[in-house]
Amino acid sequence: MKVHGVFLVAVFFYLMYTLPVNGQPRKDCQTSCGRVTIEYPFGTSQGCYYADDPSFKLTCNETDQKLLFGTNFEVINISHSGELRVWNGVSYACYNSKGDLSDDISYSYSLANLSLSRNNKFTLVGCNAFAVLSTTGTRNYSTGCLSACDSLPPANGECNGEGCCSTDVYVPLDSIEFETNPHGYRELTSVLDFNPCIYAFLAENGTFHFNASEDLKNLRNVKEFRVLLDWSIGNQTCDQVGNRSICGTNNSTCFNSTRGTGYNCKCLEGFEGNPYLSNEHSCQDIDECTTHKHNCSDPSTCRNKDGGFYCQCQSGYRLDATTMSCKRKDFEWATILLGTTIGFLSLLLLISCVQHKMKHRKAAELRQKFFEQNGGGMLIQRLSGLGTPNSNVKIFTEEGMKTSTNGYDKGRILGQGGQGTVYKGILPDNSIVAIKKARLGDNSQAEQFINEVLVLSQINHRNVVKLLGCCLETEVPLLVYEFINSGTLFDHLHGSFSSLSLTWEHRLRIAVEIAGTLAYLHSSASIPIIHRDVKTANILLDENLTAKVADFGASRLIPMDKEQLTTMVQGTLGYLDPEYYNTGLLNEKSDVYSFGVVLMELLSGQKALCFERPLQSKHLVNYISSAMKENRLHEVIDEKVIKENNWKEVEEAVRVAMECTRVTGEERPLMTEVAAKLEGLRVAKNKHQWSDQYPGEETGNLVGVGVLSEQGDTSSTGYDSIRNVASMHVTAGR
Ligand SMILES: *[C@@H]1O[C@H](CO)[C@@H](O)[C@H](O)[C@H]1NC(C)=O
Ligand SMILES: *[C@@H]1O[C@H](CO)[C@@H](O)[C@H](O)[C@H]1NC(C)=O
Ligand SMILES: *[C@@H]1O[C@H](CO)[C@@H](O)[C@H](O)[C@H]1NC(C)=O
Ligand SMILES: *[C@@H]1O[C@H](CO)[C@@H](O)[C@H](O)[C@H]1NC(C)=O
Ligand SMILES: *[C@@H]1O[C@H](CO)[C@@H](O)[C@H](O)[C@H]1NC(C)=O
Ligand SMILES: *[C@@H]1O[C@H](CO)[C@@H](O)[C@H](O)[C@H]1NC(C)=O
Ligand SMILES: *[C@@H]1O[C@H](CO)[C@@H](O)[C@H](O)[C@H]1NC(C)=O
Ligand SMILES: *[C@@H]1O[C@H](CO)[C@@H](O)[C@H](O)[C@H]1NC(C)=O
Ligand SMILES: *[C@@H]1O[C@H](CO)[C@@H](O)[C@H](O)[C@H]1NC(C)=O
Ligand SMILES: *[C@@H]1O[C@H](CO)[C@@H](O)[C@H](O)[C@H]1NC(C)=O
Ligand SMILES: *[C@@H]1O[C@H](CO)[C@@H](O)[C@H](O)[C@H]1NC(C)=O
Ligand SMILES: *[C@@H]1O[C@H](CO)[C@@H](O)[C@H](O)[C@H]1NC(C)=O
Repeated sequence: MKVHGVFLVAVFFYLMYTLPVNGQPRKDCQTSCGRVTIEYPFGTSQGCYYADDPSFKLTCNETDQKLLFGTNFEVINISHSGELRVWNGVSYACYNSKGDLSDDISYSYSLANLSLSRNNKFTLVGCNAFAVLSTTGTRNYSTGCLSACDSLPPANGECNGEGCCSTDVYVPLDSIEFETNPHGYRELTSVLDFNPCIYAFLAENGTFHFNASEDLKNLRNVKEFRVLLDWSIGNQTCDQVGNRSICGTNNSTCFNSTRGTGYNCKCLEGFEGNPYLSNEHSCQDIDECTTHKHNCSDPSTCRNKDGGFYCQCQSGYRLDATTMSCKRKDFEWATILLGTTIGFLSLLLLISCVQHKMKHRKAAELRQKFFEQNGGGMLIQRLSGLGTPNSNVKIFTEEGMKTSTNGYDKGRILGQGGQGTVYKGILPDNSIVAIKKARLGDNSQAEQFINEVLVLSQINHRNVVKLLGCCLETEVPLLVYEFINSGTLFDHLHGSFSSLSLTWEHRLRIAVEIAGTLAYLHSSASIPIIHRDVKTANILLDENLTAKVADFGASRLIPMDKEQLTTMVQGTLGYLDPEYYNTGLLNEKSDVYSFGVVLMELLSGQKALCFERPLQSKHLVNYISSAMKENRLHEVIDEKVIKENNWKEVEEAVRVAMECTRVTGEERPLMTEVAAKLEGLRVAKNKHQWSDQYPGEETGNLVGVGVLSEQGDTSSTGYDSIRNVASMHVTAGR
């Protein structure tokens, strides 16, 4: 058993070490001889050289440790690219004393399947001789050179035909043969002294330098020269051999042999090793980084990769291709700049956003503050508390006001007065409104505004300017009214509209309308109201010359349980009730006085106060009453008023005005009475007119009542007025 086992193991090793694998050498092949490395496809024993081709067989003389190719060439080294470098001795022949050559100079070497490289030179050293190198085989070829000299040539190192000649080997030779023919060229024996022998040899280009004094005498057996032999695999080109070539598997590639037949292998760029092998000695990646074959310079670090390397820089740096060094990335700055810019911009955006929001909030807070300051809260409370008939007072926004007045454009100003500025505004629904804006920095104005809102919210009368709404979000409150386009009564009587003459009928109707309105305010509105600033400048006229009482800024709501109020005296000089002025006690009779002045103004066409009139008559009341006393009423009544048949009415109206302007309030009639009296004048007048046109008195009355009823549709005043008319008649009758 034991013997049997040993036998099996022996057989195994034999197989493993003797059979070539895939055309590859055995693993136990000799790798060197002396100092020469034996490289595949060459080998010293069978299974070690390529395809059992004897051309690749080398012999190692173990005694002197020389590697031999054939019998004549000692191998120096083997190049993978197809060169076998060998030592080759010098051929020579010497002369005897008779002048004959002692030795046979012809030599012949077999190069097996190798050939002589073109990178060799064939050289002759000697005087008066020639040498021929010839090859026989597939074609016959010969080359040679001739040297002649009578004396020792100068030692200039040149092999130029004087004592030495050389020639290139242009055709690959597969066997070499040299010969010399001194006969015929060697006639003088005088050269024997310095040139006893002639020498011929092959040498790798550039390895021989001729020294005349040395070499002509002493080249024999002194030197061997390196000779290059070309070798290749097979007799096919790379294309012909295709994938059957022994290269090309492990990072090696095939190339056509320079000698014209067969191919050779080489490692790919960045690889090194034996390209004819497929084992661990085949082409391997060169680690340029550890072998210092890289050109990366500090501070870049070399990184190896298959077939090459690359230089790496730390992040933030880039490689400069000319110096292979690292430089700070330029685009880093661009990136930083860009990043900073973006960051900055977004910060700005954020800030502006926040600012905008804060501004918005501040604006809202401000609006709220103004709203409160302007009594908005109180107003809303009171508006809802009053249970008003006209509670649809709209609260406008600041924004809406701004747009409707075109940003409080100067061109939109309708008028400017003590109470503030009035703008023409156009609401989004294209309706035209008048917007009154209090003067800035006058808190009493704001109070008056609120007051006006409160008062007007209580009133719904066709002869009172309609308050549409207000805006309290602004620093000063804004009031929005219906737009009355034909100016004030004052303008019509004394000012810009005076060209439009108001007839007696107009004036009487206007007086009736004002009186009715005041009567309504005093007695019929849900809470009695005293206007306190009745004057022609506060009576607006629309296109039909219908009176609209405006400006309730000074007006007072009088609680039901109080007859009169003590207030700061307020009003306009000329219209101001002297009793109120003296006592500060406000009651409805103050409005009656003011109305009396207005009525006088209507009758006389004179201003309430006129300093052009004589001293006693500066005040209109005095002016009229003195004229009355002196029985020259004709002089003071506006001639536009006086017509045929109306003197009695005018006189009556003057009487009413006189009653109204009595110094003592108690003696003045109530506004309802005044309204009824004037209405009576108007009705009588109408009756008179209609009686001219229509015979039936009843019809006129009915029509008159009908007209009044029309007023009653908008408020209850009209109807009340009628009743008062009736009672006034009774009173008058007494
Ligand atoms: C080996 O070299 C020695 C010394 O040069 C020589 O005597 C011997 O014959 C050589 N052997 C062969 C096999 O050539
Ligand atoms: C072979 O030897 C020559 C001369 O000694 C030398 O220049 C060359 O580099 C060597 N080649 C290899 C592949 O060792
Ligand atoms: C040349 O190579 C062929 C095969 O490629 C081989 O048969 C022949 O023996 C070789 N000749 C010499 C002289 O080695
Ligand atoms: C031999 O070498 C010289 C100089 O090195 C060069 O000029 C010449 O071309 C070479 N000859 C051949 C055949 O390579
Ligand atoms: C080469 O020369 C020899 C005689 O020197 C001759 O026998 C042979 O046929 C020649 N070869 C060719 C290819 O001409
Ligand atoms: C030639 O050889 C001689 C003798 O060895 C020597 O003295 C001389 O320097 C050599 N000249 C050149 C150019 O090498
Ligand atoms: C290549 O060599 C083989 C023998 O190894 C031979 O049969 C063939 O004819 C040769 N081909 C050429 C083109 O020389
Ligand atoms: C070589 O190439 C031929 C076709 O070009 C293919 O049929 C064959 O299998 C290949 N052989 C190998 C070993 O890749
Ligand atoms: C070349 O070698 C690398 C490793 O050095 C290996 O990854 C790659 O596959 C090889 N290429 C071939 C064609 O064998
Ligand atoms: C090898 O030589 C052949 C013929 O001369 C040519 O067609 C082919 O392209 C060459 N191949 C290479 C890799 O040089
Ligand atoms: C390539 O080389 C590796 C060793 O570097 C070897 O193991 C492998 O078999 C080779 N590949 C081929 C296809 O020969
Ligand atoms: C560095 O080496 C690479 C490859 O070895 C080469 O392509 C490049 O030109 C070299 N650069 C410098 C600056 O030497």
